[in-house]
Amino acid sequence: ATGRSRLISGLIRSVPDFPEPGVDFKDITPLLGNPNGFSAAIDELVATAPRDIDVVVGIEARGFVFAAPVALSLGIGFVPVRKPGKLPGEVFSQSFDLEYGAETLTVHRDAVPRGARVMIVDDILATGGTIAATAGLLKHLDVTLAQVSVLMELPALGGRATLAKAGIDSFDAVIAG
Ligand code: PRP
Ligand code: MG
Repeated sequence: ATGRSRLISGLIRSVPDFPEPGVDFKDITPLLGNPNGFSAAIDELVATAPRDIDVVVGIEARGFVFAAPVALSLGIGFVPVRKPGKLPGEVFSQSFDLEYGAETLTVHRDAVPRGARVMIVDDILATGGTIAATAGLLKHLDVTLAQVSVLMELPALGGRATLAKAGIDSFDAVIAG
């Protein structure tokens, strides 16, 4: 691993059996509290962006923390994908199962111009359900999903196969855990 990815990995804490038994929770709060680590994480995510991206889509809540600075750094807009009941305009919704519990995600119907090239940014790829659902939302918007990037991938949970099934072929993770 490079010095940067070692720095980032060292600032993500594993918490066994949270929020329920059997889940090994990856806590990013030490990374967020460390300006060198946080900015290295954003730089590494920015480096995964293709040149011709128009919009960064971030996923509530932890995805926002990474996706918004990536969008600013790229000089393009940020679009939030949110949990239900939070967006005031007309939305598309997508429900799916999580490693713990079930979830629904929503996006404003007019959030992204037709034909835009979109990059999804989230903190963690675990089972891939969150990102597959977000990709499903984007299908309603008539845009091109050009890139999916996460800070950390948990390869044991098979997220890449879920993404492949969802038709996502351009995926990068800054670190693996
Ligand atoms: C976590 C994490 C990812 C997702 C990954 O979000 O932030 O978004 O799970 O899991 P998956 O690949 O199995 O879908 P969570 O739903 O816990 O909510 P949060 O971001 O609001 O903390
Ligand atoms: Mg999340």
